Amino acid sequence: MKSNLTQINSSSALVFNNPELFIEGWYWAIRSQDLKVGEVKPVTLQGRNLALYRGKDGNAIALDAYCPHMGAHLAEGKVEGNNIRCFFHHWEFNSSGNCVDIPCLGKALPVKLKTWHTAEKYGMVWVWTGDTPKQPLPFVPELENEECDFAFGSHFFKNCHPNVVMINAIDAHHFNTVHNFPIEIVFRKEELNENAITFSNTTRGGDESLLMKLILPFYKNEGTYSMCYWYGSTGTVTLGPDFLHFYIMFALRLVEGGKTEGQTILITKKRPGLFGWSFNRLILWLTLMVGNYFAKGDTKVFQTIKFNLKTPTKADQSIIQFIQHYEQQKPLVWGTWENPSTRRGEEAGVVYSACSS
Ligand code: FES
Ligand SMILES: [Fe+2]
Repeated sequence: MKSNLTQINSSSALVFNNPELFIEGWYWAIRSQDLKVGEVKPVTLQGRNLALYRGKDGNAIALDAYCPHMGAHLAEGKVEGNNIRCFFHHWEFNSSGNCVDIPCLGKALPVKLKTWHTAEKYGMVWVWTGDTPKQPLPFVPELENEECDFAFGSHFFKNCHPNVVMINAIDAHHFNTVHNFPIEIVFRKEELNENAITFSNTTRGGDESLLMKLILPFYKNEGTYSMCYWYGSTGTVTLGPDFLHFYIMFALRLVEGGKTEGQTILITKKRPGLFGWSFNRLILWLTLMVGNYFAKGDTKVFQTIKFNLKTPTKADQSIIQFIQHYEQQKPLVWGTWENPSTRRGEEAGVVYSACSS
């Protein structure tokens, strides 16, 4: 029997690297600081147009952008208390999307705007793209129960699909060829849940190189490098010596034409007092430097790549595992957030069984 590597390559994947589909999950919408109490902003998320506002209770509300009266964009409107009033004819909607007032009628009509679940973490407002959140917000596994400090890195665009950007972090071979790593990297995968998977480096070595001679005394075991993927679109990297791990989140979303918009978030655990606060500024700055080092080497290739892993080798095994994990998650259609047609679902079933054999 053929191995998984030859049974599946990226061209047999239906959802992976598909500009029309994405995985139901939490996606970053807007920085929390950019949505102040009383403000409403337009956000296009995974192709769907939303209006996000923050009522006087401080909660961020996400609703479909277009007014059910005549289609005005609600981000042109005004926040009133915890509700939003349309600019055009002043229809008012509450935070559940129900119409609660139509001034010229003196009463409301039974119309409702679709609203979406929101949550805030790491300085971002996140939106769940389905009806009921089934999994937590993306988090760094080591910091799951910690209070965190964070800073924003770059806001960027890439000329390829978020999945392609994501797998760069587990493209074992390119660490040697692009980033000049002196050791061979081999990952072990661990599925956290249906929508989250971690790849951790298992190797240590390269003691003969100067770089590793400098670094190795700081490591008890292998060099810590792991990547935790959420919904195949947000990844958190953990790396560094045992006494000081750096955490970088790459939060990506799929934009027009199968391309990527991303936001880098630098994270560390909260440390008490003024000293802790100052120390964290230094750590977050160092985290930014580490992140930039990794991002720099690949910038050009993402401008021109036409991703097609036609000839996977053993070093590409983690990428194949990522694709298999990705294909088993629930896809939605980019733009409408609807379920893809049943026919596509049946096709997908064929591939899933091939992956798991
Ligand atoms: S279009 Fe919104 S109230 Fe008329
Ligand atoms: Fe890279």
